[in-house]
Amino acid sequence: MIGSQKIVTFCFSPTGTSRKNMMAVVSGMTPIEYKHIDFTYKTPEDGLMVSREDVAIFSVPVYGGKVAPIALQRMDKVKGNMTPAVLIVTYGNRNFEQALVQLEEFVSARGFLPIAGAALIGEHSYSNAQYPIAIGRPDTKDLDSARKFGEKVMNKIQTGEISCKHSIDIAKNMSALETPETALLAFRTFIQEYTRQQQENPMKVYPSATAEVCSHCGMCVDVCPTQAIIIGHEEVTDTSRCIRCCACVKGCPSGARTFVSPFARPLFENFQMRREPLYIF
Ligand SMILES: Cc1cc2nc3c(=O)[nH]c(=O)nc-3n(C[C@H](O)[C@H](O)[C@H](O)COP(=O)(O)O)c2cc1C
Ligand code: SF4
Ligand code: SF4
Repeated sequence: MIGSQKIVTFCFSPTGTSRKNMMAVVSGMTPIEYKHIDFTYKTPEDGLMVSREDVAIFSVPVYGGKVAPIALQRMDKVKGNMTPAVLIVTYGNRNFEQALVQLEEFVSARGFLPIAGAALIGEHSYSNAQYPIAIGRPDTKDLDSARKFGEKVMNKIQTGEISCKHSIDIAKNMSALETPETALLAFRTFIQEYTRQQQENPMKVYPSATAEVCSHCGMCVDVCPTQAIIIGHEEVTDTSRCIRCCACVKGCPSGARTFVSPFARPLFENFQMRREPLYIF
């Protein structure tokens, strides 16, 4: 059994779904003590070490089939000492591809021992009224299932079934989830065709704001994780800083900020089939 069972969470979540999923897991674990470190808006301080007596939870979104790169940058200095860790990736109903294995490698290299993993679903950052993608997720069913996962993990910790001596190999346990080939192919074809026709790299399209609609409330400045928007000039996006997380779009109360991602239509057309959470113990 793990000593103090304090739970230390590490989360990066611009549009809030990775945080929601993580909190549902934590609610099932009913921790005695709980410390939440959110690095959406800042890098945790250097030398942050989680003891082997505690349990760490990492929760991050999937960008392009991998962990959002900025999340890894911000977690770089976090250290464990054979600390058991629960790994959660949240993706927008397309696929999480390499993200969970990548997170496993990342935390293992920093002294954590993965004891459980989850690939959960969140409303896609690019979802909008015209092209809804995984809208409203995680929903009640998702959150209930995440809570039960947390319960099971804690139960297994308390009975000694899983511990820092029993870390799991997430990579070996993962072969189950593949995006159906046809959907993936249609998505890739669209992107290639778009790039050819528009002569524009879809990766270089960014959110923008309509000056006439903007009330200068500053909300987008507050929710931007990379300081890509400056107060007083909210209609401008610093494209050298923007990671296209869409927090500003979803957080704008007047609908002034929008993002017409070229990916939205093909995602909507090809990934409507509801994906369910995947758990690995
Ligand atoms: C730049 C970018 C790339 C993304 N790539 C993927 C992807 O490869 N697969 C997928 O299913 N969802 C993808 N998504 C959707 C997010 O994983 C999903 O919306 C997630 O819920 C966002 O997490 P957050 O609410 O914690 O910010 C991407 C989103 C962004 C902004
Ligand atoms: S949140 Fe919307 S309305 Fe408020 S400052 Fe930003 S763009 Fe303008
Ligand atoms: S400006 Fe870019 S990085 Fe900042 S919140 Fe908007 S999409 Fe995210």
